Amino acid sequence: MHMHRFERYYVVIASVTVGIFFASVLAAGLIFGINPARPAGFVNPLTLDETEFANPGLRHMGGNRYEAYILAQMWAFAVGSDERLDDGAPVLRVPQHSEVTFFITSRDVTHGMIIEHYNVNLQIVPGHTSSQSITFDRAGTFRAICHEYCGRAHHLMNFAIVVEPANPNA
Ligand code: CUA
Repeated sequence: MHMHRFERYYVVIASVTVGIFFASVLAAGLIFGINPARPAGFVNPLTLDETEFANPGLRHMGGNRYEAYILAQMWAFAVGSDERLDDGAPVLRVPQHSEVTFFITSRDVTHGMIIEHYNVNLQIVPGHTSSQSITFDRAGTFRAICHEYCGRAHHLMNFAIVVEPANPNA
C-alpha cells in the first residue's frame, strides 16, 4: 500500500505520542504510586442510620487530629451542623493547622468532592467509604464542591469549610 511520506510521519508521530502518554500513566501508577483515592471501606447505603454516618460532623480525636463524617446525597452534603452561609451552604468549622481525616459516603448516586485551594479529589460512591486526610494550614472559607454530575441540582451541591485562625490576635 502506498502511503505518502507526510502521512507516514503523522502516523509515527501520533503513535509515539500515544505511547508516551500510556507509558506516563503506567509509570505514575506503578512506579511513583500516584493513584486515585481508593475506597477506605464498605458501608450499606440502606442502613446508614446504624453507622457513624447517622451522626455526621467533626470528631476530635485528640491533639490536632479530627475525623469528619460527611454524608452526600442529592443534592446536599450533611456535615452535622445547622450553620449556613448566606447562599445556604452548610458550614463545617475546623481549627487552623488541624489534620482532618474525611470519611464520606453517598446515600444515593455517585457524587464527588474537591476542596478549593486544597489537593483533595474524592469520588463518593454509594456502598463505599472514601477517605482522605488533609491538614488545614490556611485560614479562611473554602468550598467543598461536588464534581461528579449527580442530577438536576448538581451545580448547587457544596458545603463550606471554615478554617478558623489558630490565634485571631496574631
Ligand atoms: Cu452531587 Cu454532583
